[in-house]
Amino acid sequence: MTHSGRHFLQIPGPTNVPDRVLRAMNRPVIDHRGPEFARLGAEVLEGLRPIFQTSGPVVIYPASGTGAWEAAIVNTLSPGDRVLMFEAGHFSNLWRDIARRMGIEVDYVPGNWRRGASPTETETRLAQDKTHSIKAVMVVHNETSTGVTSRIAEIRCSMNNVGHPALLMVDTISSLGSMDYRHDDWEVDVTVGGSQKGLMLPPGLSFNAISEKGLAANKNARLPRYYWDWQEMLKPNRAGFFPYTPATNLIYALREALLMLQEEGLANVFRRHARHGEATRAAVRAWGLELVCEEPREYSNSLTAVFMPQGHDADRLREIILQNFDMSLGTGLSKLAGRVFRIGHLGSFNDLMLAGTLSGIEMGLQLAGVPHKPGGVTAALSSLISSHKFSVPEEAVSSHTR
Ligand SMILES: Cc1ncc(COP(=O)(O)O)c(C=O)c1O
Repeated sequence: MTHSGRHFLQIPGPTNVPDRVLRAMNRPVIDHRGPEFARLGAEVLEGLRPIFQTSGPVVIYPASGTGAWEAAIVNTLSPGDRVLMFEAGHFSNLWRDIARRMGIEVDYVPGNWRRGASPTETETRLAQDKTHSIKAVMVVHNETSTGVTSRIAEIRCSMNNVGHPALLMVDTISSLGSMDYRHDDWEVDVTVGGSQKGLMLPPGLSFNAISEKGLAANKNARLPRYYWDWQEMLKPNRAGFFPYTPATNLIYALREALLMLQEEGLANVFRRHARHGEATRAAVRAWGLELVCEEPREYSNSLTAVFMPQGHDADRLREIILQNFDMSLGTGLSKLAGRVFRIGHLGSFNDLMLAGTLSGIEMGLQLAGVPHKPGGVTAALSSLISSHKFSVPEEAVSSHTR
């Protein structure tokens, strides 16, 4: 089937890449050991820090997010080390699997995939660990399979309350550049990020932001590493270079995306995502459908996962929407397959794109015969109007009504 106009890529990443970023990539490759690259490398390595809200180093890997997950582990831990993790969904399971594959002993706190990591449980578990055998607490900030955001500042407080020295490692792959995230303030030791979501880039880059404590742990960490080794990376990074061939054109793209985030202002970026998260949830409630996230303090602002009514298949709905309206929505992952669809509202996105997205879903629900109430789009529009950043001057309103 052919479609006109633009495809709506409303999966929770990869996200829509702005034309400005696409144009920035469309340049000849340069010598990655030459002076022009040194300037580019230095600029992006510096420019990434405010996005993580850190003054420390951020390393860039030519890899998907999974690489940066593995890098966080192999740079800080030794075989047989114990870590504390929380079952929040598909992605916390995968990070746990990498740790286990590396010979790490994982205390995995079970979860129902509707809530984030528990600050109370963190405190209890760490208080019981009198010998400090737990070397790291590893948390997925925004669980992309469920639309649940863990409260990292509270997890940090729990760790500090019991004076436990474990490292705090956080995956921000689907929250970076979309939701407030503070590497330094929250005393995170390793933050894992990716290019293809809030940063509005194609897939292919991933990041580790590293604290001083993380760097110190790196000196004694005995897991084997080469490609991911921070020390190998940080040395050439000082002059803007990489230890191996960098993804040059993605780095051009990164420079442009960082500029766009800077122009909008990070606080405005977070506010925009918060408005879109709120409006999307208003639509879901009006349709009478159920959110996967059951704790309002943990609602994600970058994506919303929605349960289908009993007996209705989420993938059939997604297929009908794709065929009829040329829009891709996120599928339910692992145990949520068929039961959940996910709406991505992050990255390069605005009010009218959200209105189009929700309209496509409302029409799809109707075409697919999924029981729901009408009025989701209207509820979302009201939410957007009530939170709009530009207030309309009084004279403009009265001159129209006169
Ligand atoms: C929260 C989270 N962590 C890790 C990953 C894995 O990243 P990648 O697929 O880029 O390897 C993803 C991918 O969507 C993710 O959403």
